[in-house]
Amino acid sequence: MSNLNAVWQAKKFYITTPIYYVNAKPHIGHAYTTVAADILSRYYKSMRRDVFFLTGTDEHGAKIAEAAEAAGRDPQNFCDTIAGCFQKTWKNLGIDYSRFIRTTDEDHKRAVEIFLNKLKEKDFLYEKDYTGLYCVACEKFLTEKELVGGKCPDHKRLPEAITEQNWFFKLTDFLDEIKNKIETDEILIAPEGAKREVLGLFGQGLEDFSISRQKVKWGIPVPWDKTQTIYVWVEALLNYWTAGQEKEKAKFWPPDLHLIGKDILKFHAIFWPAMLLAYGAELPNKIFVHGYFTIDNQKMSKTLGNVIDPNNLVKKYGADATRYLLMAQFPFGQDGDISEEKLEAIYNADLANGLGNLVARVAKFRVKNQELRIKNQGLEKYDNLMKDLQFYEVLKMILDKVKNCNNLIEQRKPWEIKEEEKQRKSLRDVVSEILAIAKMLKPFMPETANKILYIFKTGKSEILFPRVSSLRGATPKGATKQSH
Ligand code: MSP
Repeated sequence: MSNLNAVWQAKKFYITTPIYYVNAKPHIGHAYTTVAADILSRYYKSMRRDVFFLTGTDEHGAKIAEAAEAAGRDPQNFCDTIAGCFQKTWKNLGIDYSRFIRTTDEDHKRAVEIFLNKLKEKDFLYEKDYTGLYCVACEKFLTEKELVGGKCPDHKRLPEAITEQNWFFKLTDFLDEIKNKIETDEILIAPEGAKREVLGLFGQGLEDFSISRQKVKWGIPVPWDKTQTIYVWVEALLNYWTAGQEKEKAKFWPPDLHLIGKDILKFHAIFWPAMLLAYGAELPNKIFVHGYFTIDNQKMSKTLGNVIDPNNLVKKYGADATRYLLMAQFPFGQDGDISEEKLEAIYNADLANGLGNLVARVAKFRVKNQELRIKNQGLEKYDNLMKDLQFYEVLKMILDKVKNCNNLIEQRKPWEIKEEEKQRKSLRDVVSEILAIAKMLKPFMPETANKILYIFKTGKSEILFPRVSSLRGATPKGATKQSH
């Protein structure tokens, strides 16, 4: 058959975020991962890939049951409220996901049952008495070695000693195979440091893990043993599977990219592929691990009261600027620090005085879109950086272009040129460059990119980034006009 007859089909791209615990409302840590996933999703769509972007909430287990009880609420009802907060936050941030999965969704419960039944049939599950130290906040067992002063190092709380008879998964059957697949990049773990970290874990005695809990009531019952519920991490990982099982979604399996924070690497890089190997499913292609940020050099925590609500950032800066500010702090894949002051300083420097001012001063000269062509210079570098998830570097590159344009205008002083035609001509390449900037910024700041195109198409200018009042958490007030 000739190629001409072949039906053109877009290559698929299945991207996921972790599903977030609903014990509390979303904070900027969750927003960080989700915005990054949205940027990539929009980028791959613009490359004509058929994208499936999955995010959602992790709703079962002791941690959520405890939070619901503390709030005096029924767990399902409590989950509904917080899941709603996540959805609203993503809407405010312009997140365009394909599905928002909740682990209390009926199709998820069914998919998990089918998956685990198969592991049982294939003899990868067995019963065992077990005693261990469990941290409810982590939702995992900790070894004596991991404790600091007898407490969980992350949550500073005493783990509970749990003795139960549980169902165990034969993780150890798959360790050699997984190690090999990670070493050869068949499962690509990036950045390099994360890959090294995972490979290091294989030398530290990984054991079979329990996939059920006797005492936790808020969970999906083990299909063949209703005295137990399924361990929350096992069904959480399976969310990626559930969403890929819907009939028309099956074509998206396997995931092309799991985006995660460094705290949950072991679950994604070792436990998850082992479960899939046991089932006989194809494995994810890539896991990208980004860093964690601190606030004013401290861990973000409710007790410290330094948690930043992304909705407040959107109120103050708008959705696009918030997306920009999150990604422009430090390289994706490294740890970094954020502060309200730094966010505001970057907003003013890069957006209000940088890009916003550039567009405002050039738009005045009414160089029309029709006269222009978008420059393709730098696009190859841009594509490579985007594919490598180097968002920080992409934004630096864009900002350099903004600075360059501003310098050109200073040199050419179009306002001193008398003839209108010559004036416009002196700015033609600058406008082309601005349009290239808009194109590159589009996945990061979709509305702003469209506004820039509109401004140059119609000649109608508008202020892109109003100055913000420096009061903490304040909403934009009386935007001052941007000068040239
Ligand atoms: N429910 C599990 C994930 C299950 S995925 C099958 C969970 N949820 S979580 O609500 O604790 O979210 C953890 C994720 O939130 C991290 O992996 C990371 O993506 C993001 N972050 C949480 N705090 C963060 C920072 N301080 N900095 C950056 N990202 C952070 O773990």
